Amino acid sequence: MPFITLEGIDGCGKSTQARLIAAALEHAGHDVLLLREPGGVEISEKIRALLLDPANGAMCDACELLLYEAARAQLVHETVRPALAAGRVVVCDRFFDSTTAYQGFAGSVKREDAEVANALAVGDCVPDLTLVFDIDLELAQQRRGERADAVDRMEAKGFAFQQRVAEGFRTIAREQPARVKLIDASQTLDAVFACALAELAGVGLAVSADDARCALATLMAPVE
Ligand SMILES: Nc1ncnc2c1ncn2[C@@H]1O[C@H](COP(=O)(O)OP(=O)(O)OP(=O)(O)O)[C@@H](O)[C@H]1O
Ligand SMILES: [Mg+2]
Repeated sequence: MPFITLEGIDGCGKSTQARLIAAALEHAGHDVLLLREPGGVEISEKIRALLLDPANGAMCDACELLLYEAARAQLVHETVRPALAAGRVVVCDRFFDSTTAYQGFAGSVKREDAEVANALAVGDCVPDLTLVFDIDLELAQQRRGERADAVDRMEAKGFAFQQRVAEGFRTIAREQPARVKLIDASQTLDAVFACALAELAGVGLAVSADDARCALATLMAPVE
């Protein structure tokens, strides 16, 4: 079954669309596993707490890269591979393209090093489809501003950093058009979802209008 990942800068709408996609696929009769990175299993959630803790400002870039990969390796080993083998659709909110974009394109790690580390963590467990939600930084910040979250360690890196991340994701999409699809995330929630569904159909996951409507209805529940 397909392995689908969602990528993009903070506030672009990944978690919202991940929930919608999972709900629509479930309604269509698929067994869906929805995950988020970093985290998803106990060891990886512990690593997530280290990565996002604002008290860890002294963390160097190599340490950060390897912690992300450690969390990812465990998630792939413990959850993603077994789920795919059992015939489940796996939807993951961020995956290795985030490492390439954040630590490689925007951070000080060489892109090739980030990609070698990615390969070590996931082996051949490469997504079949990656949706990159492309959005203007200001609009993403506006959307995030509507939430009362504290700023975490990654978000505190500033505007220029986030711009390089966004450009990194665009480059990845340009270079790997078969796997990575760029979606204009500045559109309404429904329109972004429709674009995502069109891409899902491309990997054999057809969702009816009714499945999509039911998924949108689930959003009445509070977002994470
Ligand atoms: N298309 C949209 N139009 C308007 N608001 C949206 C849209 N998509 C998501 N939002 C809202 O924008 C905010 C950020 O969305 P969401 O949490 O899904 O983004 P995210 O990419 O997961 O962010 P983060 O990287 O911080 O986890 C939420 O309040 C969400 O309800
Ligand atoms: Mg999110």
